[in-house]
Amino acid sequence: KNVVKYNTIQDIRNKYVTGTPLSMCTAYDFITATWVNKANCDLLLIGDSLAMTSLGYDSTITLSLNEFKHHVASVCRAEGSSMVVVDMPFGTFESGISDGLKNAIDIMKLDSKVTSVKVEVGSYTKDKYAMKFIEELCSRGIPVMAHIGLTPQKVHSLGGYKVQGSKSLLQMQELYETAMQLQKIGCWSILIECVPHKLAQFITSKLSVPTIGIGAGNGTSGQVLVISDLLGMQGDSVPKFVKQAVNMTDIATQGLKEYIASVEDRTFPERGTHTFKVKEDLWNEFL
Ligand code: KIV
Ligand code: NA
Repeated sequence: KNVVKYNTIQDIRNKYVTGTPLSMCTAYDFITATWVNKANCDLLLIGDSLAMTSLGYDSTITLSLNEFKHHVASVCRAEGSSMVVVDMPFGTFESGISDGLKNAIDIMKLDSKVTSVKVEVGSYTKDKYAMKFIEELCSRGIPVMAHIGLTPQKVHSLGGYKVQGSKSLLQMQELYETAMQLQKIGCWSILIECVPHKLAQFITSKLSVPTIGIGAGNGTSGQVLVISDLLGMQGDSVPKFVKQAVNMTDIATQGLKEYIASVEDRTFPERGTHTFKVKEDLWNEFL
């Protein structure tokens, strides 16, 4: 097997130190991962959002670890330099630290390209369990990107997909303190989702590890988007914080319609271009 070089945490850190914004995008299979790598995205997230985008579930909560593992393996088969970060799906660590450690190790073992796990965590005062779990991972040399702000796996306890850290002084202080604590216990990076841009920028300015924002403004060290939102792969409704680059649904549907029409009017396949020949004398003999 060819040894292809891909970004390490140190490479990402070096870029962060120079103040160059970091790019991250999700991918869910070999095809989308090949695109992300070809585009030279710094980081590739195998997000549990694949539950909703690729598998059609209505939240990330129902995704099983086994289903997820197939996707992780397929993404990792794509070549290229994007550093792979993998979500710890809901239910893979909540039942206990040792279960969580086992599952994190299983995820890391799926492919040597898996460089870091990502763990959603609430406020450090309330979600002491996830803080502890993250600390245990870091102390064992398992790199962790922590995910704060809107944490979709906690959609039920949060009461919906809402902006976080915008309602009260306490919420803002807790978010800030949580980020500082996460840095202290060893997270190499912090993802901040759906937080007022001023707060995300403030937190970023106080940290010495990179932040990756989604719905958090341009004051974070980098940005992440869900690939199907970015490329318009599903419907027309995307969250407010998404700037859709292309509409692949339109492009794909149009292509399929043209194909169907050409099948129906027999203009496809075209003789010569899409067909194979048999030698004339052989054909005559056959007849
Ligand atoms: O699962 C995911 O895609 C994520 C991003 C939205 C950050 O966690
Ligand atoms: Na996720």
